[in-house]
Amino acid sequence: MLYIGVDLGTSAVKLLLMDEAGQIQKIVSREYPLSFPQPGWSEQNPEDWLRETVAGIRELTADCDRTQIAGIGCGGQMHGLVVLDEDDRVLRPAILWNDGRTTEETEYLNTVVGKEKLSDLTANIAFAGFTAPKLLWMRKHEPELFARIHKIMLPKDYLNYMLTGVHCTDVSDASGMLLFDVANKCWSREMLDICGVREEQMAKIFESYESVGTLKPEMARELGLPETVRVCAGAGDNAAAAVGTATVGDGRCNISLGTSGTIFISSERFGVDPNNALHAFAHADGHYHLMGCMLSAASCNKWWMDEIIRTQDYAGQQAGITDEKLGRNHVFFLPYLMGERSPHNDPAARGTFIGLTMDSSRTDMTQAVLEGVAFGIRDSLEVARSLGLSIPRSKICGGGAKSPLWRKIFANVLNLEIETVETEEGPGYGGAILAAVACGEYPSVEAAADALVKKTDTIRPDPEIAARYEAQYRKFREIYPTVKELFPKLQ
Ligand code: XUL
Repeated sequence: MLYIGVDLGTSAVKLLLMDEAGQIQKIVSREYPLSFPQPGWSEQNPEDWLRETVAGIRELTADCDRTQIAGIGCGGQMHGLVVLDEDDRVLRPAILWNDGRTTEETEYLNTVVGKEKLSDLTANIAFAGFTAPKLLWMRKHEPELFARIHKIMLPKDYLNYMLTGVHCTDVSDASGMLLFDVANKCWSREMLDICGVREEQMAKIFESYESVGTLKPEMARELGLPETVRVCAGAGDNAAAAVGTATVGDGRCNISLGTSGTIFISSERFGVDPNNALHAFAHADGHYHLMGCMLSAASCNKWWMDEIIRTQDYAGQQAGITDEKLGRNHVFFLPYLMGERSPHNDPAARGTFIGLTMDSSRTDMTQAVLEGVAFGIRDSLEVARSLGLSIPRSKICGGGAKSPLWRKIFANVLNLEIETVETEEGPGYGGAILAAVACGEYPSVEAAADALVKKTDTIRPDPEIAARYEAQYRKFREIYPTVKELFPKLQ
């Protein structure tokens, strides 16, 4: 049988076709616009996601035997607010995970409702990108639209709804709404009240690997697929990427370098970081995970290359970054181009180069961008280490993970063994694996991931380079606290 994995990302939807042995037969990617209507705001049109996903599925399956397609599973960008009216029309553009407009609402939730109460109810505190503060923002700034909300959903749940007609979500994605009681895997009535929404506006909750239904007949016709194709609940893109790199079960780690950068630690037990610096979410394998999320990761490098030095030759620009130079850069970069989530929780933070001198070169700045992102992930890794978690190695996936230089920088900055896997399409591959489990091809997510995901390489830290980076990281850590008071004044 064949399974379609969908990665509903921020810059594009990436789709892949996987057979039951885990082999990828074809990959298709289709872009859609991302708009920043005001500084720090970030929106997308859900209808663009649907249009490109439908076209993508048609393209993906154009030359295969479509009767063999058994299931579809989606890993989607998390936290985005999608609202529909009673005729299922999208009420406003989706407010995305990296949108920072909700400073006031986040502050209200964390100080007036209180972090302790939020953490008791949802296992998490408020971050600007989470869904609950966005609902409060809409209630205040767009009351007429807010009053017309019939259904509240997350980005990939909009796709699943349009495919099946079932208003559904999964436990991993629901965890990032701040409306979900993660420990008990149900909506928190109290949080719904705080945000002025009712349970009937919320989706039905599934485990990520459960089937929510089959294709609606008109959708099956449009896609050219059998009506029997099952759609599984799917997962937030990070949980799906973790499945796609076999970061399942207990104590495994995955780093994802996409538009965002995340470090994801799987756990068989529910547990909360006492300072809530790491998110405590449900995992797509039926258990739980902790996660730190940077808002700009591979997107920093893309911004630097595409917008600033205006080149597509990333490798050429990085060619001068030799082992000799690693851990010896006098230029530092704070990667906070969209503000920062973990661990600073500061939507006002901004990207910053510091340490420039007359002899600083473009290569030093290119290197500083790569290192700044690795230092940012190290900040979250330090939080995990401070909780006593032992993390000797990590998988890596996402667009940024394709760069051998960046992988080497990560291994040395984090002082971790970094493992690559055969399929770098983390969320899409995870989505396809979840679909295979939903269709009964495998008894569990762990069984499927362990059978299908193949490790290809291990990058070990070099003790000398890692020691140099240790000293560099100590300097990096001092920069943000020193300049943070300035950021709000710059706006
Ligand atoms: C995770 C997060 C991002 C998005 C990116 O909390 O906000 O990783 O899911 O798509």
